[in-house]
This record gives sequence, structure tokens and C-alpha cells, in this order.
Amino acid sequence: MRKIIEELEPSPIRTIANSAIDNKDVIPLWFGETDIITPKFISDSLKSALDKGHTFYTSNHGVHELVETITEYTSKLHKNTITSKRIMVTVGGMNALMISAEAIINPGDKIICITPVWPNFMRCIEIMGGNVIEIPLILSESHNKWKLNLEEISKKINGARGLYISSPNNPTGWMMEKKEHKIILELCRKNKIWIIADEVYERVVYDRKVAPSFLDIADKNDLLIVINSFSKSWAMTGWRLGWITIPDGMLHIFEKLNEFNIASPAAPIQHAGITAITEGEDFISDMIKKLSQAREIAIKNLTSFSKVELPASSAAFYVFFKVKGVTNSESFCINTLRKSGVGLAPGTAFGKGGNNWIRICYAKSPSLLQEAFNRIKPVLS
Ligand SMILES: Cc1ncc(COP(=O)(O)O)c(C=O)c1O
Repeated sequence: MRKIIEELEPSPIRTIANSAIDNKDVIPLWFGETDIITPKFISDSLKSALDKGHTFYTSNHGVHELVETITEYTSKLHKNTITSKRIMVTVGGMNALMISAEAIINPGDKIICITPVWPNFMRCIEIMGGNVIEIPLILSESHNKWKLNLEEISKKINGARGLYISSPNNPTGWMMEKKEHKIILELCRKNKIWIIADEVYERVVYDRKVAPSFLDIADKNDLLIVINSFSKSWAMTGWRLGWITIPDGMLHIFEKLNEFNIASPAAPIQHAGITAITEGEDFISDMIKKLSQAREIAIKNLTSFSKVELPASSAAFYVFFKVKGVTNSESFCINTLRKSGVGLAPGTAFGKGGNNWIRICYAKSPSLLQEAFNRIKPVLS
């Protein structure tokens, strides 16, 4: 076995969740998904694709109509012309991340990761033999808002191979604004380094239709890879469907990696993806209304607990908060699970420095969420 793989850190969220995953009395707020079942019009479209005989291998690029649909959707959403040769369909955002790592990371390469962040791309970097350079977000003076540490990024960018940034961010709910995208893009252009922009939460926003994206401002030849997914926008986490937007002229490279990793996502699922995009806007609006209500419940409860310090979160469906007196977030989560039957995610899962931080995914029904907060109130007050 390769030493790198043996030593790969397992996800602390999984480790805690596995201990109680089948316990129906536990309220699970640990994973990043809503409790909304994929809407029927999408499931019906999968059934109809099967009935129509869409059961064969597809091209590595993706089912033609899906690629065209994503191309049009992305171009409109970001008011930028993205050609279909820059899109490739993947098995969710995770596969898009791994393929990106395989495409650009040589052993020993340094990749800057803006943390806290969902850890999987950091593990992809390590699998490829690269080195993760964490640059944490900083809390602004009022200690209430996350922001990029641009000074540190400028210092460390020279000599790096790439920069991984996830906005809207899991776990903090922080969202990069347009001017920050411009600064980062310019910096990376100047230093000729890759940007891997993880934008799977781009539609999980509360004050606009879509989050600012590198695709709003980038050119077709920028060293930019944008990760996207059907998981969060259309409640399709279990379907495993996503896509990647890549620079012009590189499709053949990514198609090769697609072939040797997965030989394309399942054909009928790709067909259902067409329906999700073309008929799914009302569903997204409804989901955002529900999430917005859940977000209010989460913020109202957490700000009333005396031990909790909660920075502002503007997007995605997470709250990331500090608990006074907690020095080991993993044992805190294990104890809370035992005492209160609520599944939380420890801050250590999202990079160094997460020891007194906890993440909650609030994308649950109001009654279940309130019940969870009632249960954990004694340990947070
Ligand atoms: C930031 C981020 N990127 C990518 C993913 C991968 O999503 P999927 O593989 O379901 O598309 C997730 C899932 O939680 C995530 O939080």
C-alpha cells in the first residue's frame, strides 16, 4: 500500500457519524445535505430515460444534450460566453475535484487552500503527492465577519502550483464578493497559478440569484477550473452528478481522466440532469425559502446561547461557531451525541485551527431543527 494513502486522515465527521448513523433517535446535523427528497419531476425523468433505453455508455464529454444544457445555463447565469468544449460532466463535485487534482498536481507541488474548508480536496492534493498550504480566513475586527487574508496569499502565492477556494463556503457560510474574485484572479494570472474554484453552493444564496463566481470575470484561457454539482442546487446528493468548467483547449485531457476514473456518469442520471436544469428554477426558489427559514431558526437559537460565538454567515446552509471553553471539538461532538442525541460536525474536519469550532448543517425541517437546538441548549449555555 502507498504510504501516503495509509496515512491519509479519515474524515472526523464520518468517524463520529458512523458510530450512530443507524440510530433513529439521533438528529443528524453533521452532513452537508438537506432533508428534501429530490423532486418528483426529476425522478420521473430518470424513469422515462430508462424506459426510452438510455442505458448505454456515454461519451466522456457527457450526454450531448446535457452538455449543451449546462453550457447555456452557465453562460446565462454568469453573463459570460462559455463554450461547450469547456464543460465536462462528472460524477458529482467530488469526482470533478479528484480529476482536477490529477490533471494539475505533480508530486511536491504546493497548493494553497483557503480554510476552513470541506476537506476532501486537501486529501486529493495529498493523494497526488502534493503539499497543502493552508491560509485561514481571518475574522474581521468586530470578530463577526470572515475575510480573505490577502496579505498572506500574496506572500505565499509565488512558488505555488494552484489555489483552491470554496465560495460560498462550507463550513463557514462565507461568500466571496466580486472585488475579491478580481484580486485573486489578477494575482493568479500574474503568477501563472491555477485556480480551483469550488462553487457547488453557488445557488444556495439568500440575497441574490447566484453567488459571484470566477466565471463572471474570467477569460477562456485563464488557468481556472470551476467545480459544480447537482447535489446542492437540486437536492440530488445521492445521484452523483456534477460538472467541471475548464480552460479552452483542454477537454481532451479531462476526457482522458474521465475515462480512466469513471468512464462517464450513468446515462439515465445524465438525462435526469437535463430536466433538473431546464425545469428546476421553481424548485430552487422554494428550497431557498425553506432554507432561509431554517437559517433564521439556527441564528436565533445560537445567538441566545451564552457559550457560543457566531460569525456572520451569508450563504450555503451551514453555521460555523466557536464554543467557549471547548478545546477539543471532536470529543465535544462525541459527548454531545451521547448526551443530547444531536450529530454535530467538529471544526477539526475543516483544517487546522478548528479545535474549538463546530459546524451545523441547518438544512432541516423547522420542527426537527428546533428540537435539535432544544436538546443542545444545556451544553451551549
Ligand atoms: C465545498 C464542497 N465541494 C464539493 C462537494 C461535493 O459534492 P458532490 O460530490 O455531492 O457534488 C461538497 C459536498 O459536501 C462540498 O461541500
